[in-house]
Amino acid sequence: MKRVLLATEKPFAASAVAKIEEIFAKVNYELIKLENYASVDELKNGVKDVHALIIRSDKVTSEIMAEAPELKIVVRGGAGYDNVDCNAASEKGITVMNTPGVNANAVAELAMGMAVYVARNLFTPKSGSELLGKKIGIHAYGNVGKNVARIAKGFGMEVYAFDPFIKKEIIEADDVKVVDTVEELYKTCQYISLHIPANEHTKKSINKNLLSLMPKGATLLNTARKEVVCEEGLKIILEERPDFKYASDIAPDSASELNEKFAGRVFFTPKKMGAQTGEANVNAAVAAANQIVNFFENGDITFKVN
Ligand code: 3PG
Repeated sequence: MKRVLLATEKPFAASAVAKIEEIFAKVNYELIKLENYASVDELKNGVKDVHALIIRSDKVTSEIMAEAPELKIVVRGGAGYDNVDCNAASEKGITVMNTPGVNANAVAELAMGMAVYVARNLFTPKSGSELLGKKIGIHAYGNVGKNVARIAKGFGMEVYAFDPFIKKEIIEADDVKVVDTVEELYKTCQYISLHIPANEHTKKSINKNLLSLMPKGATLLNTARKEVVCEEGLKIILEERPDFKYASDIAPDSASELNEKFAGRVFFTPKKMGAQTGEANVNAAVAAANQIVNFFENGDITFKVN
């Protein structure tokens, strides 16, 4: 009998967990739940005799994998897999998958929600500004970026994008203007919405030079990863430019300092919550569970990332 561990430090909605239970019950797999766990040791104990692992942003390091001799597959219910040591997994013959696109709308709605919140001075009585007619730059046009573009157009914003990995025509088909350089995107747009993954090339890449190109009344929206923003550079920009605002889904390391110094111009969610909707949880849970069943029963590796 296959054993699957659902290890979520930030749990899925109960309806999503019920779906996972249903899918595995049909194929007679055992589901073990480790939700809301608080220490790495709990995860280490949990993986000991399981064949598959479903996670969210939970860190799966080589240390964790060393405790899991039976483990064959890790599925990250969601898009970003920077939390999994993919090289260590490959060395151990463990397949790593993500479930791309399933929570993209939820994240995009939060990005635009933060845009409104920041434009209206964190819902304080001070006179704010509107999104209508403003330019928004989508930095990386993947599933989330595409959804942000759709919603931003509903607000009457002019939508621009930069993504060297996606053909221009594909982005233009969404009635989005494509720019050729990242600098041009930042120079053009008052709002920038980040959708790049966190990796060795992108960490700290949103730096002072890039941010300083943004026009007056600039707002940086980060629903990607805190690590892609260079906090030192951001701090300087916030200091130099009283017109600059930053909203991030998950607090940066220097959150308390930024909150104190730049109150009213910065906003951070206490816990990453872009994907935290019942709908996105169900989508991610169902995709993850089905991918595991398909992997074991049919050898399907469609969403393998390592
Ligand atoms: C993702 O990469 O899919 C999102 O950042 C959501 O992450 P979460 O499942 O940890 O909320």
